[in-house]
Amino acid sequence: MNFKEAHWRELGLWPHWVARAPTREPIPAGADWAVLRQLVKDCQRCPLHQGRRQTVFGVGDERARWLFVGEGPGAEEDQRGEPFVGSAGRLLDQMLLGLGLKRDQDVYIANVVKCRPPQNRTPTDAECNACLPYLHRQIVMIQPKIIVALGKVAAHALLKTSGTLGALRLHQHFYGDIPLVVTWHPAYLLRTPSDKARAWEDLCRARQIMVSQCTPRGDNADKAPA
Ligand code: URA
Repeated sequence: MNFKEAHWRELGLWPHWVARAPTREPIPAGADWAVLRQLVKDCQRCPLHQGRRQTVFGVGDERARWLFVGEGPGAEEDQRGEPFVGSAGRLLDQMLLGLGLKRDQDVYIANVVKCRPPQNRTPTDAECNACLPYLHRQIVMIQPKIIVALGKVAAHALLKTSGTLGALRLHQHFYGDIPLVVTWHPAYLLRTPSDKARAWEDLCRARQIMVSQCTPRGDNADKAPA
């Protein structure tokens, strides 16, 4: 009998009162979009679920070639249930427009954590790790041609690396075999507009990678010539 158990027995609380670890069932390998959405909606894997109004699953084209990954929902996202709908989101929309993209056409937008951290603080490593299996499954289903990590939290979580954003953005990365470009989070760019030009360079690099590796989905690119 360990100390805790003996203590609870003495208080007459054993064996009825058992401290439970949060459920961390693995995501079923075959989980489809509907199953995954429901799992996220019901999720209690970390304490962030206690303060959320609703979960913010992700939005866009489920067969998109472009995947943009942010950190976690803020107040407006928590209220509307959609990622990047606040001021940072408006800048992200402009960045997409610059690339000739729209958030629901060939683009999917998701976050590392699906619940709003209190006072919009940075999610902890434990919170990111608890939530990451959802993002991993989203990536498996979307099969994007390129991932753009928006900010340090997304870059660290997806690349399992540390390092400053300034250093990470200068290198070409891969998530599995998917090219991954790191750039600044739009919220940072709102505070530091002088870095917008360099963020644009990152996005142009991402576009170049995209152009060099694929043609639009749905054409005959995979067919052998007759
Ligand atoms: N910041 C993020 O990282 N994600 C959002 O959805 C909104 C703001």
